Amino acid sequence: FIIFAGTANRDLASAIARELNTTLGLAAVENFPDGETTVRLEEPVRGREVFIVQPTSPPVNDHLLELLAFADACRRASAARITAVVPYFGYARADKRHGRREPITASMIADLMQTVGIDHLITLDLHAPQIEGFFRIPVDSLTAVPTLARALRDRVPDDAVVVSPDTGRVHAATMYAHRLKTSVVVLHKQRASGTETRITHVVGDVRDRACVIVDDMISTGGTMAESIEALLAAGARPEFTLVATHGLFLPGARAKLDHPSVRAVVVTDSVEIISRDWPQLEVVSIAP
Ligand code: R5P
Repeated sequence: FIIFAGTANRDLASAIARELNTTLGLAAVENFPDGETTVRLEEPVRGREVFIVQPTSPPVNDHLLELLAFADACRRASAARITAVVPYFGYARADKRHGRREPITASMIADLMQTVGIDHLITLDLHAPQIEGFFRIPVDSLTAVPTLARALRDRVPDDAVVVSPDTGRVHAATMYAHRLKTSVVVLHKQRASGTETRITHVVGDVRDRACVIVDDMISTGGTMAESIEALLAAGARPEFTLVATHGLFLPGARAKLDHPSVRAVVVTDSVEIISRDWPQLEVVSIAP
């Protein structure tokens, strides 16, 4: 087999290769002045099993196109089988139409991936598990919850509760709570736009409890910041651990989370972490 890394997260691809006692396949990605992208495989793949490690993280469209170009190059060079390792699946929040004249982009991407010859998808904590149904190829939808929960065990106070910031995360929150031997509190979140959310209810008792807020991703940081405010208003102790599989940390997110009550922000390396210069940040590797 051979593992190629796109440009989205070479560190993770290298860590995966190290786990498997191998090195990355040789390939070059080139961007033209007009914004077009091409990929050149610099070693043969004929008859080989190929893995392409490329989270479709921001800039999502560029990383997605690069993954498709990689797969197309591998198929045209007669690879035996192509597995896309996409720990963060961009557009996973576009899994349904919100209005009558909108696309279902996650479904469109599933079609594109299959059209270019991807035979198998490995992904991690998909925002909506039912996205698997958009594919006809096998999808291994892994979860980082056990890995993250292990990292939390010694750092979270005994009386902490696990908080799901919306109903979509209740299943994952229950998995965390089971592993941390505590209970789950659920917030009722309403999304007004891509950047604006509002927490209207806290379901469960958080009075004087430390909170572990768990989510699939931290993007703008809005959901976490709103959750902290709502939990403080409901009487929670100002002692928060923020946990997410995917730390996208878009510009401005860190400022939103620089709250004196935030003790730790724990994410995986599914997405390349641009700056680790943040004392509260802990990055747990999913390479193993
Ligand atoms: C939403 O349903 C997701 O599970 C996350 O809560 C959300 O996408 C996080 O994004 P942000 O950090 O921008 O609030």
